[in-house]
Parts: sequence; structure tokens; C-alpha cells
Amino acid sequence: MNAPAFWADFRSDTVTRPTPQMLAAMNAAPVGDDVLGDDPTVQLLEAKTAERFGMDAGLFCPSGTMTNQIAINVHTRPGDELICSPLAHVYNYEGGGVAFNSGVQIRVAGDAYGRVSPEDIRGALQPQDNVHAAPTRLVVLENTSNKGGGTCLGLAAIRAAGAVARENQLAFHLDGARLWNALVHDRESPEDYGSLFDSISLCFSKGLGAPVGSVLVGNRDFIQQARRIRKRFGGGMRQAGYLAAAALYALDHHVERLSDDHRRASQIESFLKQLPWVTECKPVATNIVIFRLADGCDARQLQSHLAAQGIGISAMDARWLRAVTHYDVEDRAVDALCAGLGSFSPNRA
Ligand SMILES: Cc1ncc(COP(=O)(O)O)c(C=O)c1O
Repeated sequence: MNAPAFWADFRSDTVTRPTPQMLAAMNAAPVGDDVLGDDPTVQLLEAKTAERFGMDAGLFCPSGTMTNQIAINVHTRPGDELICSPLAHVYNYEGGGVAFNSGVQIRVAGDAYGRVSPEDIRGALQPQDNVHAAPTRLVVLENTSNKGGGTCLGLAAIRAAGAVARENQLAFHLDGARLWNALVHDRESPEDYGSLFDSISLCFSKGLGAPVGSVLVGNRDFIQQARRIRKRFGGGMRQAGYLAAAALYALDHHVERLSDDHRRASQIESFLKQLPWVTECKPVATNIVIFRLADGCDARQLQSHLAAQGIGISAMDARWLRAVTHYDVEDRAVDALCAGLGSFSPNRA
């Protein structure tokens, strides 16, 4: 089946096409063979990303799923347990990779917005001296939380969670697929994140608009181990500098503009709040709007109503929908989405 051609595509921030300037940067990139260790553009991207977070080194990978899965593999051993939010991407959307790739089981803890408090972590910890329990080895946080509605966790809460991880000798990994959005929204410093986590996964193919690619950052020893696991997972890429050039362009030009996406998402939230058939909208902080329809309404009916006007949004289940802003949806697309929502009249079952 061909993908529907939406002129206003709010399904995800992953749908962006590279801009002409980004394509020009890709075209001009000097490249080598990154598996042999001599692609200068990949090396520049890895070094620049690590430096921004005050960490030793980075590793360029094809996807955020791979950077998360590699980090989990390095931090754990088969039979271990990790703690994450019940909404976490590593738990819901990575194809069972935690179990398949690393033989690790997951214990979930946290609220409906993707936040995991120190008490949540303490409550989920397995006693290390109990032979019946799988030893807890790792805490994974996600900032912003995708399924939580683009929630920013906030440095204070992360610091408190990190302290519990440290007290219990647990590794601390951040799925920062959209950390850029949190940094811009909360005006936080990347170095603070680098000082709190053992590893951070950063995506360039979400709000930053690169076609492909994520970088895992950590200390030198961690990244050396991660490089071996990347090869094992089949993620070594050859003339990857062309892709790294897109990520470098995004790093230099597409971070600050995320505030435009946040403004547009909050405009959509305000509109949704006026609609009688929308019963809940998760508080919007960044670029993700998640909302619920009244009982009896059908998310797929709304999706089809909008699709008929060339507007794409995602149905998460029978009642919940998600709209995501990004650089390919400008003000007129937001106006069209609001008009499309305003012209919908649900056939209540
Ligand atoms: C929070 C989060 N983590 C990880 C990923 C995985 O990224 P990728 O699609 O590049 O594998 C996503 C994808 O949307 C995500 O939202």
C-alpha cells in the first residue's frame, strides 16, 4: 500500500524532507569508510555532539532504536532487569528488543506523562541479595516523553532520579530522541545532562529534520564497547558521512527553531480544548499533542475526515489521537488542521 500523500502531515516529526540547504551540505560532505574508522564527517558529528554534552565520545547509528538498544546491551547482562516508564519507547515500540537483543526484563514505574520519580524507582528496585529476583541494573528515562505528550521531565526531577540510581549502583540512560525540544523549552544546558547520565541517545531524524541518524554519547570506554555492539547489530555504515552531514546541518541550524513547533502545538491544544467531543488533552509543552475523544466517538472517523482534506494525524487507539508539529507544517497547515477539527461532527456510537 502506498503511503497517503498529506499536504499537512501531523502524524509524526519524522516525516520531514531534507531542505535544499541540508541536501547541499550532504552533497558537499567529505566521506570515507566509517567501519574502517576514516569517515571525517561522521567523526566530526560524533565529536561535536559529545562535546556539546560535555561527554567523551559519540557513536553515529542508523536509528534511535539502535542507540537505545546498544546502550541497554552495554549496561546490562542477560537476566538483569531495567526500570523505565510504562510509556517508554524502549518498552512499547522497540519490537521487544530489550528481551531479544539483551535478554533483559523490564519493570515499569511512573505516571501517565512519562515521569519517573525517585519514589517510583525505589519502589521498583529489586533487592540485590534476593536470589529469586532479577537484579536491577539500569534506569532508562525518556525526555521528552513521546507517549506522555511531549512532557519535559525537568533537570531537578532527573537529578533526583539519578541520585537514586547512583545510590544503588545502577546505570542511568536517557532516551533523548527529543531532548533537543526539552533543552529549548526549558532553556537547559546540554552539559548538565552529560554530567547526570552514563549514556544519552540523541535523534536527528525527529524535530531536527535530518533524514536518518542518531548519536549515542558516553564515556570513552562505554563508546568503545558500544562500537562493537553496533557492528554486531549490523549498524556499521560505510560512506555514512553523507548522512552525518545532514545531522551536522541540523545541529547548527534546526535547534532554536523548535520553539516555533512548540508554539504551533500549543495553538492546536487551545483549539482542541474548545471542542465538546474532546474530553482530555495531555498538557502540551513541546511539539506533541495527544488528546482523547468522548466515549462513543471514533478516532478513525476523525482521522478519515482529516485525511479527506489532505491532513494526517495518528490514531493511537479507538479514542486517543496524536498530532505532532515539525518544520514541514507551517502556520497555514495548523490553521487547516484547526478548521478540519472544527468541521468534524462525530457519529456517536
Ligand atoms: C522517544 C523515542 N525514542 C526512540 C525512538 C526511535 O527512533 P527511530 O525511529 O529512529 O528508531 C523514537 C521514535 O519515534 C522515539 O519517539
